[in-house]
Amino acid sequence: MRAVEWDVQDGSLVLIDQTRLPGELVYARCRSVDEVVDAVQRLVVRGAPALGAVGGFGVAVAMLQGAREGWAPGRLAGEVRRIRDARPTAVNLAWGADRVSPLIHRGVEAVLAEADAIMREDEAANRELSRLGADWILARTGRGRVRVLTHCNTGFLATTAWGTALGIVRELHARDALEIVYADETRPLLQGSRLTAWELQEDGIDYVVQVDGAAASTILRGLVDVAIIGADRIARNGDTANKIGSLGVALACADAGIPFVVAAPSSTVDLSTPSGDDIHIELRDGAEVTSLAGVATAPPGARGFNPAFDVTPSRLIDALVTECCVVEPDGVKHVDALVAERP
Ligand code: MRU
Repeated sequence: MRAVEWDVQDGSLVLIDQTRLPGELVYARCRSVDEVVDAVQRLVVRGAPALGAVGGFGVAVAMLQGAREGWAPGRLAGEVRRIRDARPTAVNLAWGADRVSPLIHRGVEAVLAEADAIMREDEAANRELSRLGADWILARTGRGRVRVLTHCNTGFLATTAWGTALGIVRELHARDALEIVYADETRPLLQGSRLTAWELQEDGIDYVVQVDGAAASTILRGLVDVAIIGADRIARNGDTANKIGSLGVALACADAGIPFVVAAPSSTVDLSTPSGDDIHIELRDGAEVTSLAGVATAPPGARGFNPAFDVTPSRLIDALVTECCVVEPDGVKHVDALVAERP
């Protein structure tokens, strides 16, 4: 089961519709640019590495639609830009579209082959960073079994397979080195309680769901050994954008003196963004805050403030983990290593 797949027979992008989980496992099909953009913006598909694959396959969707509808020369570039800009914070979406775009002149098969390579490389990266992250956490905490707090969803649903922060959780579980997972529910769209809990349950991993407001207290009460989160964009100085609420978790970890770990494939490291101040934070519809599953949770007319992400400064991060290495950020100089080939 994969969150993102290409249907060769049908020539369409097939996505697990994550808005419908955990109630039902259904798939959405995209055959047009409008459908791709809509799926990205409604979070049918979400999570930075999964969006990287959508960026790649989305270009193929646009090419096939253009051929079907006889688009005028020049239109394709604009349609690819719509996909690439459908959400601004996760660098992977634009990265995926940009990676396949130079192959457009060689035809859709070449673009699809490159998008497939993005899928394969992402899975391999996730598995490798999970090993590196688990090694680091067990060495740092000195514990045989760790209690982990995580925020949002970073599992196979958010990637092409396996997961990043949740990949480390899976790796710890496989080594019998995991005691329990505290999964923040992740308001407003509940990626933690709907998606992370679903993945952990499917894998038989012990977990509890807690409201986001409980995280600081759980950490300061000594119930957690390490917090592990994913990333939407890691800037050149190590500052990291991730789901809103991540910063609060980092502050609590710093106060409690437990490690705060960021895990991501190197495709999420954006060396062209100097610092967190330069990351565009998506502001979503306030109605997502003033309602839950379509039911109003605030008085009529209440306005919601809904930044989808926050930025954790690198000084609050104990380890940045990619498939290349683990860095303990003490400024700009080590971040290059996160994208370097391993010897
Ligand atoms: O708004 P979302 O659900 O796309 O936000 C996702 C996150 O913030 C994830 O933590 C991040 O993309 C990493 S996914 C491996």
